[in-house]
Amino acid sequence: MSTPHIDADGGAFAELVLLPGDPLRARHVATTMLTRPVEVTNVRNMLGYTGEWKGARVSVMGTGIGVPSAMLYATELVRDYGVRRLVRVGTCGAIVDGVGLGDLVLVMGAATDSSVNRLRFGGYDLAATASWELLSRVARVARAAGASSGVRVGNVFTSDYFYHPDAGLLGLLRRFGILALDMESAGLYGVAAEQGAQALSVLTVSDHLNDGAHMSAEQRETGVDAMIRLVLDSLLP
Ligand code: HPA
Repeated sequence: MSTPHIDADGGAFAELVLLPGDPLRARHVATTMLTRPVEVTNVRNMLGYTGEWKGARVSVMGTGIGVPSAMLYATELVRDYGVRRLVRVGTCGAIVDGVGLGDLVLVMGAATDSSVNRLRFGGYDLAATASWELLSRVARVARAAGASSGVRVGNVFTSDYFYHPDAGLLGLLRRFGILALDMESAGLYGVAAEQGAQALSVLTVSDHLNDGAHMSAEQRETGVDAMIRLVLDSLLP
């Protein structure tokens, strides 16, 4: 079978799919962390793999950047491939002083400037929230592991802009207790709500918008890898 954006056999994906933005991150996870990884799709180079983590079947697939890209893969995975749990493993830009480079943000809810959730929810405002089951499991394991960096559970702002035209945006977000910015979580949570699936975004703080600080490529690699291992250990078997 195939869908417009995924060319994989029926049953090629596990019920849990990790979703990094970067398809090369998906390949890296599959080839360095999973046993017996099989590439199951590569349409437009959006690589997807299925393998095993400590004996449990799991898939990992890139989403690209932004709400529309993440949503179309999430929709096809759930609707056409029977995926039940979608976990974004990505990066975010922190906007408050208490959240630093390398910290983990477990996304409880995602505010947004995207109109997709309002459109899908009949013109009303959808609460774009994580699955409590996924969130509580990852939070428990992260805190028990005494992660060397901080673990924060809270709200992010998912923007259609990386270069936002509203100069006052960050001040507004801080007043409302938003921890960080990303570009996908609200769309992912909207798809999960609509399709009856479970979703969670787990983000490593890769840069800080207060002072422009950012992780080096090496720090990013190490931090994101540790986050992905934590997610796998939390949700499998
Ligand atoms: N903005 C939006 N998404 C991000 C950022 C950012 O600054 N950093 C990492 N993901």
